[in-house]
Parts: sequence; structure tokens; C-alpha cells
Amino acid sequence: MTSHEVDFNYFSQEHLLNAGCFDMRLIVEVVEQTLLDFEQGSIMFPEKIVQIFNQRTQERINCLPATMLDEKICGMKWVSVFPDNPHKYDLQNLSAIFVLSEIEHGFPVAVMDGTLASNMRVGAVGAVAAKHLAKKDAEIIGFIGAGEQAKMHLLAMKVVRPGLKVCRVSALTSEEEQEFIDQLAPILPDMEFIAAKGNVKMAMEGADILVTATSAQAPLLKAEWVKPGAFYSHVGGWEDEYEVVSQSDKIVCDDWKTVTHRTQTLSRMYKDGLLSDHDLHADLHELVSGDKPGRESDEERIYFNAVGLSFLDIAIALTMYKRAKEAGVGQSLELQHEMIFEHADIVNKVHL
Ligand SMILES: NC(=O)c1ccc[n+]([C@@H]2O[C@H](COP(=O)([O-])OP(=O)(O)OC[C@H]3O[C@@H](n4cnc5c(N)ncnc54)[C@H](O)[C@@H]3O)[C@@H](O)[C@H]2O)c1
Repeated sequence: MTSHEVDFNYFSQEHLLNAGCFDMRLIVEVVEQTLLDFEQGSIMFPEKIVQIFNQRTQERINCLPATMLDEKICGMKWVSVFPDNPHKYDLQNLSAIFVLSEIEHGFPVAVMDGTLASNMRVGAVGAVAAKHLAKKDAEIIGFIGAGEQAKMHLLAMKVVRPGLKVCRVSALTSEEEQEFIDQLAPILPDMEFIAAKGNVKMAMEGADILVTATSAQAPLLKAEWVKPGAFYSHVGGWEDEYEVVSQSDKIVCDDWKTVTHRTQTLSRMYKDGLLSDHDLHADLHELVSGDKPGRESDEERIYFNAVGLSFLDIAIALTMYKRAKEAGVGQSLELQHEMIFEHADIVNKVHL
């Protein structure tokens, strides 16, 4: 008789870390390959479901599904974004969990932490953009924002631009800047770190790579600080003045159509009629596939904005799941031992 037991694997963030899943080089490669798979049409990517609980703070929980058709895996990211968490409660802004199911019988195969994969994805997407758009000899990177996304961005940028030597960081408080440095300096011992002590101009002016990853909604980054040849990765909401965009030689997005419906700088300009579809140079997958050129001169200022493609998260989750399973970490959990009416004592368990 066929067994009707259903089991799945559970992986906590610690299981994933112990299995070597915090491998930024691997995740950058997964992002590149998955962008190509998407272009080939081998990914199902329906609309996400959004539930916002507070319009002012944008506290929300989103449900983001995608299916890797070649791998026969359907996944869902269930992600919470609570922007007040860090400064009000000393808790992280974002937390996420994945469910992965196989699509031969439709059973779940894994439930796993999604915070590591989500945050790595944001950094890795910025790094894939930098690979095509930042100068090869980039040495100085500047940050506004010192939170989780900024940290991941630095690690990912270092993978594609190992020549980075100096990191300048500015945040709302000196404590945050120091924490960023204390946590990252041991991982990147060949880099010099400079805390800007809240001086945003000092962090950004003349940098080869600029990253804004803040919870602010204000034009923090000024156009005059962005030198010719600079690459700018915009991660948060409204973080730069409009001239940063208008002086850029190329604008690249992860997905322009999605960008036009959101609220960050490019979206605002689009809605104000200051940008049109013609101003977009490319979506990121077009650079990866070689359909459009990346950087073409040392003088170009290039603007990159990603709003997040959650099929990348599912692809990263699948990669982490395979690595963690191979490493023998995690727990196997039983979802059901048999079908409902197969339980021998079901007569005692039914309540009418
Ligand atoms: N594009 C994407 O795919 C994507 C994915 C996840 C998160 N995000 C966004 O990235 C941003 C950062 O997320 P996080 O998790 O790192 O947040 P976080 O709260 O951990 O960090 C935010 C940082 O912004 C700094 N900041 C806020 N206002 C500032 C100001 N006026 N001047 C200087 N620094 C200021 C804070 O000091 C802090 O260091 C958020 O806007 C988040 O919504 C984008």
C-alpha cells in the first residue's frame, strides 16, 4: 500500500548559515542565471498579495509566489516589513519565511528562513548591476544608510569589484555607523572603513560606487556629489534629488514596469511626467543576456534602481535548500502520518 506520510525539511537561519549558504558569490551567480531563465520564460511569476496595516509606516506582510518550471519547484515568500522596528524596538525591519513545494504531487518539501535569502538577494542584484555598470577599477564605495541592506550591498559589491579599498558610511546615528564597521571590517580586512558621523556629503562625494539604502523619504543624495564615471545603486524609497537622475547617462532597473508603479525617486519622476519609457536604458536581464550594453565609457554616470523581483528569492531559496540538504543540516518534520480517515482511532477524533 502506498504510504501517505508527508514530510518536509525545516531549516532555520542558523541551519542555513552552518551549511555555508551565506555564499555571496554563489548567490550572485544564481541571480544572473535566474534572470536568464526568466527571459527564456521558464519561470511562473504571478502578482504578489499585499496587506498594509499602517499607511503611515507602511507596515505590511506580503505573499510572493513563483515557480521554477525546469526545477519543478513552486515557492512562496511570506515577508514582513515593519520599518519602525529598528529605531523603536531595536528589531530588524524585514523578516521572511519560505515554503517550497514540488509540483509532481504538490507536496511541501521545505519550510525555511527567508530573511537571509531576501537580504542577500537585494545585495546580489545590486552587484550584478555593478558588474555591468560600475567602473572596473572602482576603489571607493559610499553609503547613506547602515542597515541590513547596506551591509549586504557592501559584501556583494566586493564580490564583483574586489578592488574596492575604501568604504565610507553615513547613517542617522554614529552608533549605527560604528556597528556597520564593527560587523563588516572583520569580514573585509583589506578594506579601510570611514564613519562619516552623519555627514552624508562626506560619505558620498567623489565615490566610484554610491549606495543609498535608507528608511528616509527625502532627497538625501545631491547631484553635485556624483562624479562622472560613478555607479549609483538606489535601494530604498525617495533618497536622492531629481537631478541625480536627470544628469545620469544611463538608467537601468531590475524591472522598469514595476518601478513605474512604486514610490521611489524614479517612480515619482515618472508620475510627475519628468521621465518616460524612453529614458530607460535597460532592465537588468538585458545586460546579463548581452542584449543591451552595460558601461560604455569611463565618464558615464549610471543609475540603478531595483524594487525587488521575488522569483529571484525563490531561486535563491531553492539553491540554499539544496546546499543545506546536502550538508545534512535541518530537521525533517512530519506534516501527516497518513490520510485523515486512515487513522485507526479516527472514530474517537471526529467531533460533530
Ligand atoms: N529594493 C529592494 O529590493 C529592497 C528590498 C528590501 C528593502 N528595501 C529598502 O531598503 C531600505 C533599507 O532597508 P534596511 O532593512 O537596511 O533598513 P534599516 O532600517 O535597517 O536601515 C535604514 C538606514 O537608513 C538610515 N537613515 C534613515 N534616514 C536617514 C537620513 N535622513 N540620513 C541618513 N541615513 C538615514 C538609518 O540610519 C539606517 O542606517 C528600506 O527603504 C527598505 O524598504 C529595498
